[in-house]
Amino acid sequence: MSKEYVVAVVGATGAVGVAMRNILAERKFPVKELVALASSRSAGKQLEFCGEPVTCKELTADSFRGVDLALFSAGGGTSTQFAPFARNAGCVVVDNSSAWRMDPAVPLVVPEVNPDDVDWHEGIIANPNCSTIQMVVALKPLHDAAQIKRVVVSTYQAVSGTGHKAVVELIEQTSALLAGQPVEVKVYPHQIAFNCLPHIDVFLEDGYTKEERKMVDETKKIMGDASIEVSATCVRVPVQNCHSEAVNVQFARPLSPDQARKLLADAPGVQVVDDPAARAYPMPIMASGKDATYVGRIRVDPTAENTLNMWVVSDNLRKGAALNAVQIAELLAERGLVRVPR
Ligand code: A2P
Repeated sequence: MSKEYVVAVVGATGAVGVAMRNILAERKFPVKELVALASSRSAGKQLEFCGEPVTCKELTADSFRGVDLALFSAGGGTSTQFAPFARNAGCVVVDNSSAWRMDPAVPLVVPEVNPDDVDWHEGIIANPNCSTIQMVVALKPLHDAAQIKRVVVSTYQAVSGTGHKAVVELIEQTSALLAGQPVEVKVYPHQIAFNCLPHIDVFLEDGYTKEERKMVDETKKIMGDASIEVSATCVRVPVQNCHSEAVNVQFARPLSPDQARKLLADAPGVQVVDDPAARAYPMPIMASGKDATYVGRIRVDPTAENTLNMWVVSDNLRKGAALNAVQIAELLAERGLVRVPR
């Protein structure tokens, strides 16, 4: 019989944690036992895995005894504090927060792009930022063919990326406005319903946000090429689920839209939807609940040499978070790497 693992989901009650449980079950990851962990607020709550009830437990320093693999999605502070306890207990961590991503001793992995980076893990593997994951899935086959020099990206990010409470806030504010009632603003600095916020994560000294900085730094690390320049503007939009991105890519060598479409159609994890005459292009409502990264609107940018524009949409809870984490877990299992090197 092939090996089965005791798997913990840290943040099991959250938007990504729910997706992690569902995707582990859907993809038949060999789970011997699922350990659901969250804050003390959720201790004792009845959750579900593979149709069976699972009681949620409070995350503590002792939670990882006997656990082989832990998927974390409970915020950076929780990962910084608890991932070392997991690793010390011999449990491999796949962490969805930004806490470990730029640590040189921690691989940052998108299985379609840099699967071999899992080979040098020392107990923690980082799952990249949601907007970065879908962008690099679309960029990788093009980079291999024509060497990307520069990327200018603008994002249209769904509220589900902020967690369950933000989805509730969008629905409540929208309902209130449609009923002519005043809105209550709790999660974001401003109303999100019928609005756009050019502000995701905190502002840095240079005027960019941390989300924008993540897209720059993480792209270089995942693609293994520090020469790729990235300029990002990240915007929260009143969409429930799925991030969209307008991506302008300049290459060292010429690449036609038809060549790009062919490369993307053959690339793992990508689905090309690009038939403007038929009004066919990727949209959040198409991508929600799906695994693919959808690419369309591929066209020449005539204002710069060797440059294409494209539109990239993916489910930020799935490929942007939970699915990518489970794919990393699958890679680890396939390669016999669900172990902390001593
Ligand atoms: P809880 O539901 O007990 O607060 P979301 O991103 O949808 O807001 O979900 C965040 C997830 O992270 C939830 O499962 C939440 O649990 C969990 N979480 C938040 N803070 C902690 C903490 N200090 N320890 C453990 N889990 C936490």
